[in-house]
Amino acid sequence: MKETAFQALTVETLAERLAPISAVAEHVGGAQENWKVREVGDGNLNLVFIVEGARGTVVVKQALPYVRLVGDSWPLPLKRSFFEYHALTRQEKRAPGRVPAVLYFDEAQALIVMEYLSPHIILRQALIKGQELRQVAEDLGLFMARTLFRGSDLHMEARERKADLALFADNTELCDITENLVFTDPYFEAPMNRHTPELDALVAELRADRDLKVEAQRMKHLFASKAETLVHGDLHTGSVMVTKEDTRVIDPEFAFYGPISFDVGMLLANYWMAFFSQRGYEAGGSRDAMRAYLLEVIEETWAVFRAEFARLWHTERSGMLYHRSLYEDQGDYLGAEQALNHILRDIWTEMLGFAGVEIHRRILGLAHNADFETIEDTELRASCEAAALKFGRHLAVNRHALQSLREINHLAQALDNGFVSVRKEAEE
Ligand SMILES: Nc1ncnc2c1ncn2[C@@H]1O[C@H](COP(=O)(O)OP(=O)(O)OP(=O)(O)O)[C@@H](O)[C@H]1O
Ligand SMILES: [Mg+2]
Repeated sequence: MKETAFQALTVETLAERLAPISAVAEHVGGAQENWKVREVGDGNLNLVFIVEGARGTVVVKQALPYVRLVGDSWPLPLKRSFFEYHALTRQEKRAPGRVPAVLYFDEAQALIVMEYLSPHIILRQALIKGQELRQVAEDLGLFMARTLFRGSDLHMEARERKADLALFADNTELCDITENLVFTDPYFEAPMNRHTPELDALVAELRADRDLKVEAQRMKHLFASKAETLVHGDLHTGSVMVTKEDTRVIDPEFAFYGPISFDVGMLLANYWMAFFSQRGYEAGGSRDAMRAYLLEVIEETWAVFRAEFARLWHTERSGMLYHRSLYEDQGDYLGAEQALNHILRDIWTEMLGFAGVEIHRRILGLAHNADFETIEDTELRASCEAAALKFGRHLAVNRHALQSLREINHLAQALDNGFVSVRKEAEE
């Protein structure tokens, strides 16, 4: 684009402004007058357009100097697009084929032109519809292990890793959103919070829960200080697009150097919330099979993550940490195994804490998720949310004492089966 001052794209101006860019024009094809441009409405922060031409279709994502959904009363820097671009290129290198291909990036215009994923749909929507996707657990387990291992000092050359740490350290405003909206606001009556009214009594109980508030802040402390690897930073089921055979991860604008466990915990939390929301969708038939599927996905995702992380530990541990000269080169295979077990144990306990907090913030904070929100009967929704809130509290507070996902999933089932009307509970 010729102009350098930032200018927001519109459906009317997009074709004219993007046609001079050969990477875009070649991909879309045909005369610019014939390009069909439409805006996708479901993002909260940015503009997203789909541009269709004679040869192909692309997605154009542009940041705005504010939050799209709220307007200029909530400023947010354009540079989030820069972090999204750099995260996408690193993720493609570390876990090839799992993110949309980037065709063009313009830093001043804060825009990314990328591959149009079709016929993919957002994973969250698929789960609400009751679709059982067989590929997603393996794909995302591998994606997380590969991106998180290969972005850390376990694998990267120290100088390169420190340069990336510095590059992403500037993503302060998006980290600030997570720091406040995820870890703090849900635990007091912050102005932007909202919750289903039938939950009032339980919400008051949770906000008075000292152990929970301490654990939430310990998780925030970890989030802010454990700069282990390049995390996606917003890896929920709304950031994944799927078909039966393919899984892609989109929207890494929250990327920064944080704990390995953060992405894993956030993703599993969103599967657990999908699990607890199923009761809201049983008017059209039982969701028993879907519930069983979701718990299997949780177990398989973690198992795949763990196995791939261990494989990379043995085959790609080329960074400055746990150097092979201390272990394998001396024939000390047990030493390498011992160190790996400590790391996986830390990821496990942290991951459970992040999952608990993620569940809470989606029910008590500003950004709710469609799994619960599209349950129209608020009493029914509150009952689903109440079980999830109790489950989240258990994860966050007792994470050091929890041994296996089987045990945790049994607890989720018990909470879900002990379905009691929240209103009745509050009246008792
Ligand atoms: N590469 C793509 N191919 C097809 N559709 C896409 C692609 N990227 C984004 N979309 C669509 O656009 C929507 C918004 O994209 P994205 O989540 O990146 O925007 P955002 O403004 O960052 O949203 P959020 O509020 O989740 O942060 C997605 O939910 C999806 O429907
Ligand atoms: Mg986003």
